[in-house]
Amino acid sequence: MPKMNTSSIHGGEDLIEGPVTFITPIYQSAVFPYPGNGEKKFRGRPLKYSREDNPTNLVLEKRLATLEMGEDALVFSSGMAAIAACLFHLLEDGSKLILSRDVYGSTMLLAKSFEKFGVKVELRGPDVEDIIDALHGAARNGDGKLVVFVESMSNPFLRVIDLDLVSSECKESGAILIVDNTFATPLNLQPLNHGANIVVHSLTKYLSGHNDVVGGCVVSDSRSIDGLWYVRTRLGCTLDPHASFLILRGLKTLGARLKVSQENARAIAEFLEGHKFVSKVYYPGLPSHPSYDVAKRLLNGFGSVVTFELKGNGSTAERFLRSLKFIKPSPSLGGCESLASHPASSSHKDLPEEEKVRLGINERLVRLSVGLEDVDDLIEDIDSALAKAHGY
Ligand SMILES: Cc1ncc(COP(=O)(O)O)c(C=O)c1O
Repeated sequence: MPKMNTSSIHGGEDLIEGPVTFITPIYQSAVFPYPGNGEKKFRGRPLKYSREDNPTNLVLEKRLATLEMGEDALVFSSGMAAIAACLFHLLEDGSKLILSRDVYGSTMLLAKSFEKFGVKVELRGPDVEDIIDALHGAARNGDGKLVVFVESMSNPFLRVIDLDLVSSECKESGAILIVDNTFATPLNLQPLNHGANIVVHSLTKYLSGHNDVVGGCVVSDSRSIDGLWYVRTRLGCTLDPHASFLILRGLKTLGARLKVSQENARAIAEFLEGHKFVSKVYYPGLPSHPSYDVAKRLLNGFGSVVTFELKGNGSTAERFLRSLKFIKPSPSLGGCESLASHPASSSHKDLPEEEKVRLGINERLVRLSVGLEDVDDLIEDIDSALAKAHGY
């Protein structure tokens, strides 16, 4: 069985027959001869129309399934499309969806919108004990079909959920566990190996890695993917093959990129932890992080996002962001460029005040998606912006 870096370069490449090339071609075609490709079946289906299947996408799907140790995968036009299709496929009138309250804001809003179809949506956690308590409650009440949605590494505090614990409780309660593995990446964690049923990703982030394409995927067992294939075909949220090509290209350097960005992130986290203008640092590779023990047990690497709290107030954070030179302001993550965001005014802006307080989101928090620049330049950039933010 090839290892991860080999799979991210070669996974799925044997799927397409024809002229030999190292680069997966872009099948920029909406239609295929049908009947005509009938003898050449993909997933037991003839190739007909790109909303259903496209050969470039099929290579990416096989590569992603290999990386996440799943039987099969599907690619979508965005991470949100992947999550929406998954929930649409699984939930029905009377189902209960238990959602960790620190999931990505759009995921939370999307989940809430299923209430109008008779789905009971319960926001719990982020402590694992509270999610388990919700599961026990639902099982006791005899709630309908149970689905649990968590992120393996949460935003912006990088809490690492104990997947072994949650998945065994889900199994006992008959719940389906969906894990958003966007922040961790399959190189650091493979949730299916820890008992999850379904893994979703925003491919927009680390897996494509260059801030130049939007996409999403779902990885699971063949049966679940087969059911989801019909949903994707009906909703029409398949990935465009050109985007697929860019993601296949980005994936080839995932291991190399992550190695550098994680080393940079650790150096920055350690630098910030001793800084006179910083009151708190969140990086799961630091012993001071509340998830350090779980992170050490579950992860192969601690990721490339560092969150910290500046001394001062909201204006200090704003001045800090405006004073950065190389690190650009943006709420995204996972690309070559280092980015900085202010959760209170971007990703978490629309949360009710009491929810922000419960999660610990305050005006002084800054999240860094650490990229591939020379770390000395990044540290100098941060140090100088911290000084400027404090009036020096
Ligand atoms: C953890 C997580 N999941 C899902 C998404 C949605 O992905 P996309 O923007 O590709 O739709 C995001 C986007 O930021 C995210 O951070």
